[in-house]
Amino acid sequence: MDSVVLMDQRGGKRLVRLGEGMLKVDGLGVLDSSKLSSAIGKSVEIAGRKFLVLSASLLDHLEHMERGAQIITAKDSASMVQRCDINSGDLVIEGGAGSGALTVVLARAVSPMGKVVSYDIRPEFAETAMRNVDRAGLSTVVELKVADIYAGISERGAKAVALDLPEPWRALAVAWEALAPCGHIGSYSPTMEQVKETVRVMRTLPFVDFRTTEIIEREIEVKETGTRPAFAALGHTGYITTARKVLETL
Ligand SMILES: C[S@@+](CC[C@H](N)C(=O)[O-])C[C@H]1O[C@@H](n2cnc3c(N)ncnc32)[C@H](O)[C@@H]1O
Repeated sequence: MDSVVLMDQRGGKRLVRLGEGMLKVDGLGVLDSSKLSSAIGKSVEIAGRKFLVLSASLLDHLEHMERGAQIITAKDSASMVQRCDINSGDLVIEGGAGSGALTVVLARAVSPMGKVVSYDIRPEFAETAMRNVDRAGLSTVVELKVADIYAGISERGAKAVALDLPEPWRALAVAWEALAPCGHIGSYSPTMEQVKETVRVMRTLPFVDFRTTEIIEREIEVKETGTRPAFAALGHTGYITTARKVLETL
């Protein structure tokens, strides 16, 4: 186990990366790694406070990520994986690693035998993404390339190409080249203008099965005094457009 979550009595969570021997955790002092890994599901006392020790989930990793670029939310990345039919063993190309939130979700989906090759034009984002991938224990299935994806994708036979780019339509032709027949293109964009241009360009290429959706998630607060949607709702995130590569059209 690479990481654990320490949950306090109010439900507050802290992700702790385990290592060999003793480790320093901000605000909690020096902790014994082996003591934490042997206390999964149990409570421990640290600096006079009680914490539950939980194994770290994928969502825990996403929520505790180091942020550089704006990240894709878990509801959107989950939909991207399902709509692009991404499975263990697949080769997936990503355009715009950013902070690596989508990279981590894609990497988990293709693990342990698949591969995610992620392109980012900015070295500082590629580095942040790779640190987050590493913290999630997924570095063996991810390759980060500092390159302009609009200029080309060198991989071939990909099951899916997942894009989160300012101008995704500029990557569609190179994505088509990289995809295996019937492979999936998935593009995440915050604005309708981006979606319209993406779909317009997709329609000029041998892609079929176009679909654009917005995933809306509402947190429900369950309390003795009343159960209702949380006031602080997550507003707009983005739209997901998917399509499939074909070799001939009707
Ligand atoms: C919104 S961020 C992606 C966030 C990412 N999906 C996540 O969940 O953390 C967009 C990224 O695209 C990268 N980018 C912009 N133009 C690019 C290009 N031509 N080729 C590769 N990456 C590019 C930016 O540097 C930025 O890191």
